[in-house]
Amino acid sequence: MQVCRTIGEIREFTNKARVAGKTVGLVPTMGYFHEGHLNLMREAKKKCDVVVVSLYVNPLQFGPKEDLGEYPRDFDRDCAMARSVGADAVFAPGNDEMYPAGYSSFVEVTGITGKLCGSSRPGHFRGVTTVVAKLFNIVRPDQAFFGQKDAQQAMVVEKMVRDLNMGLEIVTLPIVREADGLAMSSRNVYLDEEQRQTAPVLYHSLCAFRDAVADGERNVPKLRRGIEEMISSTPGAKVDYVEILSVPDLELLDTLNGKCIAALAVRFGKTRLIDNMVVEV
Ligand code: PAF
Repeated sequence: MQVCRTIGEIREFTNKARVAGKTVGLVPTMGYFHEGHLNLMREAKKKCDVVVVSLYVNPLQFGPKEDLGEYPRDFDRDCAMARSVGADAVFAPGNDEMYPAGYSSFVEVTGITGKLCGSSRPGHFRGVTTVVAKLFNIVRPDQAFFGQKDAQQAMVVEKMVRDLNMGLEIVTLPIVREADGLAMSSRNVYLDEEQRQTAPVLYHSLCAFRDAVADGERNVPKLRRGIEEMISSTPGAKVDYVEILSVPDLELLDTLNGKCIAALAVRFGKTRLIDNMVVEV
């Protein structure tokens, strides 16, 4: 597995692959890998001849009071894990490589970025779409792989690719969960023992939502309240948002109809976790 620190190096690597007639898959990440990341890499390896994993903690998508400084990092462990599932290259640029002095270009998707994490993390998606657009231009993948845990991110990236005719396929893979249902996230390491024990309430509240829908409930405010009350009654859990919206437009609904997503963000102390479940009626 090749480790590339510069845009020149990774371009040379992917150009060689393309000249040899190979397809290129990109797994964009911020590192500190868990099974969810490895699942994306394995799937990329099944679908593409060559897999590039980008590993870059993008400062542009963190707000001034967010966890950029503390974001967990372990480059050597990440490289070993990527290698173990057959990644062909890791692209790990520094900030000067991605945003050199004088950098002033940004990519913004409007509309769906104003909801959910977009409203509680202003500027977040502008940072995500800017770095992802740059990664797409640098690596020029045939397919790029994202996780459903960041459902809104995957929808925003898909919209950007469609709107800007970027000509690659976005593959979104299901959430990978711990045995007790907690969605895997690099941020789970921030949780103390007690928080870790209570955090699966996110998944349990979404399962209760899914079961209520299966039993015929269609009233969105009632379903939303059900999720919120279950989480709020858990010690240490503070709801940032709970929303049930249409997919893919993320419109507010009174009555469940068609494909919908229940999405939530919850704080346990300083740690903010997200989760979601899609239902179709
Ligand atoms: O999901 C992430 O890890 C990041 O938002 C991404 C897509 C790698 C962009 O920095």
